[in-house]
Amino acid sequence: MHPHHPDPRTLAQQAVDSIEDFDGPYRGFRRAHAKGACFSAIFTPNGSASSLTTAAHLQHQVVNAVVRFSGSNPDPGMADLLSPAKGMAVQFQLPDKSITNIVAATIPVFFARTPESFIDMMKTAAAFKHKELSLPEKIGAVIEHFSESKNAFLHLGALKPPVSYATSRYYAIHAFNLVNDRGDRQAVKYEWEPDLGIHTLSAREAKSQPSDYLEKDLITRTTLGQVGFKLNIVLGDKDDPTDDPTLSWPDQRTRLEVGALTITGPIAEPDDLVMDPTLLTPGIELSDDPILNFRHEAYAISHYLRSMKE
Ligand code: HEM
Repeated sequence: MHPHHPDPRTLAQQAVDSIEDFDGPYRGFRRAHAKGACFSAIFTPNGSASSLTTAAHLQHQVVNAVVRFSGSNPDPGMADLLSPAKGMAVQFQLPDKSITNIVAATIPVFFARTPESFIDMMKTAAAFKHKELSLPEKIGAVIEHFSESKNAFLHLGALKPPVSYATSRYYAIHAFNLVNDRGDRQAVKYEWEPDLGIHTLSAREAKSQPSDYLEKDLITRTTLGQVGFKLNIVLGDKDDPTDDPTLSWPDQRTRLEVGALTITGPIAEPDDLVMDPTLLTPGIELSDDPILNFRHEAYAISHYLRSMKE
């Protein structure tokens, strides 16, 4: 927009700032997915991914995990019913004491293809909110990103409030590459399939839910010992796009169940928990998705800001 005055901030800084301009900042909280709850968990791989990857948690050994469920909004006080997408971030604790994450949400595609368009959309959303746009500007803004974000907004619009964090399917959205001991690469996408099935609230049931019903519900369910998810990997064909988080792969792609996650009970949030989706382990590599690759820095900035005495 101002070619002679390029913005000196990195794209990740601009992204975090643009979220704050839209809603925030909320001191001491994550700049996105601010409201959340942590749980301990056990992950039991079934070995069916071992021909595709050398990753330690996808062989045969059971590993511990920390899971944080969240609402997607930057406002930590927002009622569960009002934040449409939910998050499920899993941190696996590997036998050699290193960690690796899978960060997922309840929509299968993202609304922005690149960091630049994410920032542009957040700026527009903030301008809408602060009523800074004329009607032609509003129409122009909607049209500009329409084809890119249509898919994600259709999914968001179709989301109904879940009965429980344990009755939603979660998608990690981006492609990753699994690498086996021969160096072969396979593009995959991760999905968490709830053991309890997918259940949503009717409009009448939703009315009577307290603001924090999802966390309370999950604590109760874990005391009864009934919460679990299967980890599925979707195998990409060689022509399936790996660099575009706004596009789904065709439904008929093979889904391989590679392990089971059992949520065992609520825990306090561990110190310095950052669910950085780019923190991988040997046997898993990042794809060429530009959104995935820039999330590392955005999450680090948010972590720094929320842990400072702001
Ligand atoms: C433009 C792309 C994105 C940006 C700028 C962004 C930004 C952020 C930020 C700043 C945080 C807080 C990090 C922290 O303080 O620890 C966060 C958390 C989170 N994001 Fe994103 N995000 C992006 C894309 C995504 C996508 C595609 C997904 C879904 C797969 C996702 C799911 C989550 C979840 C589940 C959390 C909460 C993690 C936790 O529980 O600690 N984000 N995001």
